[in-house]
Amino acid sequence: METMKQYIQEAEQALLHTYNRYQVVFDKGDGVYLYDMEGKKYLDFCAGIAVFALGYNNQKYNNALKEQIDKIIHTSNYYYNVPSIEAAKKLKEVSGMDRVFFTNSGAEAVEGAIKAARKYAYLKDGSTDHEIIAMEHSFHGRTMGALSVTGNPKYREAFEPMIGNIRFAKINDFESVLSNVTDKTCAILFETLQGEGGIFPAEESFLKQVKAFCEEKDILLILDEIQCGMGRTGYMYAWQKYGVKPDIMTTAKALGCGVPVGAFLMTEKVGANSLTSGDHGTTYGGNPLAAAAINIVLDLFEENHIIDNVKVAGSYLEEKLDGLVSEYDLIETRRGLGLMQGLVLRRPAGDIITKALEKGLVLINAGTNIIRFVPPLIITKENIDDMIVILKSCLDEITHQA
Ligand SMILES: Cc1ncc(COP(=O)(O)O)c(C=O)c1O
Repeated sequence: METMKQYIQEAEQALLHTYNRYQVVFDKGDGVYLYDMEGKKYLDFCAGIAVFALGYNNQKYNNALKEQIDKIIHTSNYYYNVPSIEAAKKLKEVSGMDRVFFTNSGAEAVEGAIKAARKYAYLKDGSTDHEIIAMEHSFHGRTMGALSVTGNPKYREAFEPMIGNIRFAKINDFESVLSNVTDKTCAILFETLQGEGGIFPAEESFLKQVKAFCEEKDILLILDEIQCGMGRTGYMYAWQKYGVKPDIMTTAKALGCGVPVGAFLMTEKVGANSLTSGDHGTTYGGNPLAAAAINIVLDLFEENHIIDNVKVAGSYLEEKLDGLVSEYDLIETRRGLGLMQGLVLRRPAGDIITKALEKGLVLINAGTNIIRFVPPLIITKENIDDMIVILKSCLDEITHQA
């Protein structure tokens, strides 16, 4: 059998070099632990980037997928299928939205949201020149539409021109939003809690001001809940904490817990006045296998009281991370909600994350100087204590080196 090192060499020969990967090949998972090819165990505070909410190797989840595989994996959106009907009903219920379109990824959900907003505005005035306001530091995905609303020039530059008519405002700065509004503005889009851009939560007052303004002007509020949704903040969707309901929202990542799925959802007002027959489509979106994943995920969220656990584990994680902020000079602050947290360092985070991996702890960054904590949502206080012990030993080594 080939060794882990050999596989890594082969990967470097075969795969396009779009990632600087950590030098590990993960082989299997169980609960909150991952195992590499050599059998080494890792405590996982990344969860496949906020995906594997239920933990690895959940037997009910695995069995539901196996059952669906034995029945039928794919038909086509030209026909109905029971798993997608059930999934749409459940998603409507947990989100309070009215209409669902299933996609295969987060970026595609954002694409759909942009198209729905443009079509809504087009139907109102027949113009094809509408603008969308997105936020600086945002991240919405790598496809051209999603990239166009991503507020980090580094990701966009080589791929210009973007889709056009996008303006960038500052999150939590209502004046900055207002200064970007024109009579062409059709939508304001942001993550309720910014992830990749540095774990910046939208403040309640900002959300409420933007929402009221959108209502007054019939501008659509689009909230991207791809990373911060699905229970991660202690609410099924982060906007529910503030009661600020969007006109359109996106969801993905933990929605399928590993099966690639996403969705954009809208209110009846938008649903009845935007995308219609022939306007949008996907071969795979909401196919029986993808929908079976959504169904079992939503069932297990309820059965296993996942959101209750996030509330308990999330506040414990906050407390422990705040402890590190007071203890270590190299940590500037903590930001985040529930089980989506960031430690902002006064230095790059890369070598701490690499050290942690060597010691059997999986962490990721958000930007160069932020350690991001997005563990499986079944994480316990004991797991958090274990994580803190490893992280502290990394921080101590770095501090002594300095
Ligand atoms: C907030 C947000 N939106 C969109 C995306 C894109 O999702 P995907 O990678 O599934 O295309 C991401 C991915 O990290 C995200 O965090």
